[in-house]
Amino acid sequence: MVKPRYSRLPARKSSSSTMFLTMLIMFTFLILILLALGILSIPSSNSGNSHKPNDLSSIVHNIVQRSDHGDDDEGRGEHWVEVISWEPRAFIYHNFLSKEECNYLIDLAKPHMEKSTVVDSETGKTKDSRVRTSSGTFLARGRDKIIRNIEKRIADFSFIPVEHGEGLQILHYEVGQKYEPHYDYFMDEFNTKNGGQRIATVLMYLSDVEEGGETVFPAAKGNISAVPWWNELSECGKGGLSVKPKMGDALLFWSMKPDASLDPSSLHGGCPVIRGNKWSSTKWMRVNEYKV
Ligand SMILES: *[C@@H]1O[C@H](CO)[C@@H](O)[C@H](O)[C@H]1NC(C)=O
Repeated sequence: MVKPRYSRLPARKSSSSTMFLTMLIMFTFLILILLALGILSIPSSNSGNSHKPNDLSSIVHNIVQRSDHGDDDEGRGEHWVEVISWEPRAFIYHNFLSKEECNYLIDLAKPHMEKSTVVDSETGKTKDSRVRTSSGTFLARGRDKIIRNIEKRIADFSFIPVEHGEGLQILHYEVGQKYEPHYDYFMDEFNTKNGGQRIATVLMYLSDVEEGGETVFPAAKGNISAVPWWNELSECGKGGLSVKPKMGDALLFWSMKPDASLDPSSLHGGCPVIRGNKWSSTKWMRVNEYKV
């Protein structure tokens, strides 16, 4: 015998659907009340900044505050990193070196300064040049405790191991001296045998310069006049994205893009010094370990 199993179903269905409707209406009201009170908000695509990626005015103030590490930071002033450009990728680490470290490097290098040379792109050998009129010298990697400490901090800042770095180069520019725009990467086979291509550079300013002597990136993308120091730049400095030398500051920029191709926007030069003296120190870093 077959029982009329589903005989009562229509009645039950109608009562459960009424309950469902009631709950739906209550839920809708609850959401509306929450929205009205501002407790909930509708996600919108244009909330927050809508800056273009290369709009310098939007990134100049992207500041990362560094916490102090205790004793070894004494006398180095406030530390903070400023993103100045994404093409090329360039960052300023303010007060990277202490005044004592700057003077130490200058004093070490002073007795050994020689007229700077450039690498001949055809032969790979060094040669005298008119495009680079400074004088300079190299300080061996890991030479002493102070230099090892600086090199360790460069590795921390750039995320490139100490072993990938060339020795520190110390440079001196007097009034009128400059370095025409160039790339730090090599175009020849000879110079990449040890360590491979140069991937990034940390340029440290060991002195203030009264006028001129800026590091200029003539091929940088973005609004070059949006930098806060625009009005203090020399004519040469206004020819691109510029960084004004300030004792202790370090400029990190990348010669290679994240996909490991060479970055032509890393073209850079040293503007002629107009007043004062410019001392700087350069650390070039390679893709692989650089044997000394
Ligand atoms: C570049 O930046 C300057 C200073 O912030 C501003 O006056 C100028 O309008 C900007 N130019 C463009 C093309 O965005």
